[in-house]
Amino acid sequence: MASINLHSKPFDEETITKLEIFEDYAQAWIPTFVMQGTPLICIFDFFAGTGYDKSGVPGSPIRLLNKINEQIGHIFTKNVKIRIYLNEFEPQKKEQKKFEQLKLSCEEYLNKNPRLRHFLLIEYLNEDFETLFPKLLPTIKKYPALVYLDQNGIKFTSEKYFLELEKSFQTDFLYFISSSYFWRFGNQSEFKMHLDIDMEEAKKDYYKFIHVNIIAQLRKKLPGNTKLRLYPFSLRRGPNIHGIIFGASHPRAVDKFLTIAWERNKTNGQANFDIDDEATINQIDMFAGVRRRRLEAFSDTVKAKILSLEIRNNFEL
Ligand SMILES: C[S@@+](CC[C@H](N)C(=O)[O-])C[C@H]1O[C@@H](n2cnc3c(N)ncnc32)[C@H](O)[C@@H]1O
Repeated sequence: MASINLHSKPFDEETITKLEIFEDYAQAWIPTFVMQGTPLICIFDFFAGTGYDKSGVPGSPIRLLNKINEQIGHIFTKNVKIRIYLNEFEPQKKEQKKFEQLKLSCEEYLNKNPRLRHFLLIEYLNEDFETLFPKLLPTIKKYPALVYLDQNGIKFTSEKYFLELEKSFQTDFLYFISSSYFWRFGNQSEFKMHLDIDMEEAKKDYYKFIHVNIIAQLRKKLPGNTKLRLYPFSLRRGPNIHGIIFGASHPRAVDKFLTIAWERNKTNGQANFDIDDEATINQIDMFAGVRRRRLEAFSDTVKAKILSLEIRNNFEL
């Protein structure tokens, strides 16, 4: 399947929503460790792009730098060091122009904001995710880590990555997947070798819930006693449903993500569209089974929100 080169055109609205959720989470995550005076925190952007889109709108690495820059005062006071790993790799291309552009964009940013260099180290990497991920895993597991996995498509959605992240209790991650590809091709062997989704089960529900249902199946692949919690945020772009998978083991991290998600969509807290719209609920009255599944999924999200509120009260966040 040909992959889309996002950076050859301006980011669309849904891409910007995704990037805003990524940056909102960084904004909430950084102070948790900075205020505790954690000596070193690490952020990994495995699919970093070039820094900006064609029109100069910032991508994930520049948004990260902005969020760090906003908190520079506390970072200095608490003497926290930050290491960012930015990886960009163009498979099948000899000249790695996007990687060179990424370095230029970030170095230019640091030159304009030189105080960042006192506590921030950027490691630029130009390697296929498949070989890089296992190399960086020990570092991911060693320090408090925020991991962005903003792939094109679904190629790197294998459960083997989730199972590794599951073992790391100090890691929060935001994964992007093009979920609607599963709806179309999920039964093909080239898809199943990445992630084996029971498409018969997934298709018992409406197409618009495909992202939610992929995550429901991913949860079942985690160990029974796991502390890792996975939450969806579905993103509709025209006929396609993509989405973010948020993952974290700590209840306070879950609380942060759900707060961001509910801020973005005050009706359902889990999509950039009205995923539980009334019209559909009326239609699905005819299909009692589907309706029950929807209500259960909705009640999971509401329960998670109530849990966040309880955590908030207990910890006086
Ligand atoms: C969806 S874009 C990421 C966009 C980026 N987060 C931003 O905000 O601009 C995915 C990026 O991953 C790169 N990529 C594609 N295959 C890759 C691989 N196997 N390993 C690492 N990067 C890859 C692409 O060149 C592309 O720039």
